[in-house]
Amino acid sequence: MTDTKVVKIVSENDPAFEWLGKIIKDGGLVSFPTETVYGLGANAFSDDAVRKIFEAKGRPGDNPLIVHISDISELCGIAEEVPDAAVKLFEAFSPGPLTIVLKKKDCLPESVTAGLSTVAVRIPSHPIARALISAAGVPIAAPSSNLSGRPSPTLAEHVIADMTGRVDAIIDGGACSVGVESTVVEIVGDGVNILRPGGITRSDIEKVLKNVTVDKHVTSEVKSGEVPKSPGMKYKHYAPDADVTVISGDKDKAAAKIRELIKENEGVPTGVMCYDGYAFDCESVLYMGEDNVKYAERLFGALRQFDTLGVKVVFAQFSEDDDYGLAVKNRLFKSAGGKVISV
Ligand code: TXA
Ligand code: MG
Repeated sequence: MTDTKVVKIVSENDPAFEWLGKIIKDGGLVSFPTETVYGLGANAFSDDAVRKIFEAKGRPGDNPLIVHISDISELCGIAEEVPDAAVKLFEAFSPGPLTIVLKKKDCLPESVTAGLSTVAVRIPSHPIARALISAAGVPIAAPSSNLSGRPSPTLAEHVIADMTGRVDAIIDGGACSVGVESTVVEIVGDGVNILRPGGITRSDIEKVLKNVTVDKHVTSEVKSGEVPKSPGMKYKHYAPDADVTVISGDKDKAAAKIRELIKENEGVPTGVMCYDGYAFDCESVLYMGEDNVKYAERLFGALRQFDTLGVKVVFAQFSEDDDYGLAVKNRLFKSAGGKVISV
């Protein structure tokens, strides 16, 4: 057990960054907020430090990490080549919730990239994340700061629940605004293939690059024998204790179906996740806002809240009717382990 210090930070000028940066530089672990979700950071150049991340999360060793830098000029320290398409994307969307897979430099330890020849790079926009990278003086390797398989943390209290005793420090920087993890893309010629949908949407990217595809495993399960483009695609994710079913399609029809299902499950503690303006007669109803931007922001917090409320089944109303729909769908369908009713 590590003695975990929790430190509340509101400004990027906080003097605490001096010792927090030193923890990273010296090989320790610090959980920190980003604009997407909280990250679990270590010195990306230290094999020992990076191995501690995998141990703290219980993460499979074949699932590579994202390396976080604070400026595009730091790319040359970790990436061997930066194709034109990547430069265009960084210029358009960084700092921000976009991760680009690039050919890696040899100086990165194999543990960071899980033995792959590529490295995933992101320049976060959250001032606390940026201040931590600057204070550390090294790129920070960081997955989401949850125990493997649990919903990603969007509040410090989620990190405290999962990581106390496993990391040296947790920075409490309040709520993450995007709520789902960054968009991950690989460069294909002069375009990209989206490996994980997130805060930067397909139509955002299409404003900058012509050829944009969405990898088939974003919306379908990885079957045995298939090798996914991104190792993270094959792992079960975001699972709360309750049994989740997604009711997907027209919002009103989905609500009607959920009312039927609540009746069928009488006697079982039931939770519903829904858009604003709908009412259901069950133990707990969590409102996800009026669109998928808000749904994304609240999704992981709601999945964790159902656990504390002790519900056994959850019905999630979902409609993929805006640009953010794909990011929400990807997380929601995984949390439901593929149990989706289309209406
Ligand atoms: O928003 C985010 O991206 C957050 C914050 C902390 O930055 N980080 C995050 O990391 O979500 P993680 O480890 O939970 O997810 C990283 C994803 C995984 O699905 C992993 O398989 C994929 O990125 N990935 C990492 N390196 C890769 C590579 N070289 N090639 C393909 N996929 C890669
Ligand atoms: Mg994760």
